[in-house]
Amino acid sequence: MEERLNKQVKKIQISGIRRFFNKVKEYPGAVSLTLGQPDFPTPEHVKAAGKSAIDHNYTTYTENAGLLTLRQAIAQFVGEKYDLHYYDPESEIITTVGASEAIDIACRTILEPGDEVILPGPSYPGYEAPITLCGAVPVYVDTRDSAFKITGEAISHHLTDKTKCVILPYPSNPTGSVLTKAELADIAGVLKDKDVFVLSDEIYSELTYGAPHVSIAAFPGMKEKTLVINGLSKSHSMTGWRMGYILSDAPISKPY
Ligand SMILES: Cc1ncc(COP(=O)(O)O)c(C=O)c1O
Repeated sequence: MEERLNKQVKKIQISGIRRFFNKVKEYPGAVSLTLGQPDFPTPEHVKAAGKSAIDHNYTTYTENAGLLTLRQAIAQFVGEKYDLHYYDPESEIITTVGASEAIDIACRTILEPGDEVILPGPSYPGYEAPITLCGAVPVYVDTRDSAFKITGEAISHHLTDKTKCVILPYPSNPTGSVLTKAELADIAGVLKDKDVFVLSDEIYSELTYGAPHVSIAAFPGMKEKTLVINGLSKSHSMTGWRMGYILSDAPISKPY
């Protein structure tokens, strides 16, 4: 039956990080600098809230997009922290099974076979599989000479009439680079009049040191085309809880 499998699935390879993670486990005492696992456990008050939720039978089906009270809390959080004041919890916030599901549904919502997706290299390897499964093509921009930051100019050079999306994975795993407000303004200037989506993976937004995190969706004209990915895995060391979310304009997030 192997030849009957989806041809796109056969193109996907297990990521080098996962292979290395498995290898490191064979060496007792080795420090694993592989997966993005925070070095502290889930905080006690979060664990207590989780236990209390189970005790109060928050264990049932919810709305498709997740509990409205949770989506309202997300709207308040991103409004206060990142100036993303205009996301309607009813129609523009979807909770997901970690940021990974958010990336997957974002790709499946916007990508079609033959589309090109511009993203910085090196990047977190979790984008390539969903792009490939959609029949789309990743177009890596070498960022080694620009402090691992993708620039407006580099994006302009790689834009073609097949470009459907630009991925902005900042703060970056694996490089730790962040984009400043001025650098994001430059990218927004290039993209705001283009019919190109931006998938902004901001899962590390709470792990910036120095300047606070800025979201590209906060720039004029960008909300309409940006899908913001975030979640609690890194900020609250909840990697096993699988709590993510996606913010996007109602025409993108509405059920068709
Ligand atoms: C940049 C980036 N995006 C997304 C994810 C996936 O996050 P989650 O565990 O919430 O699915 C990771 C996990 O390491 C990551 O590093």
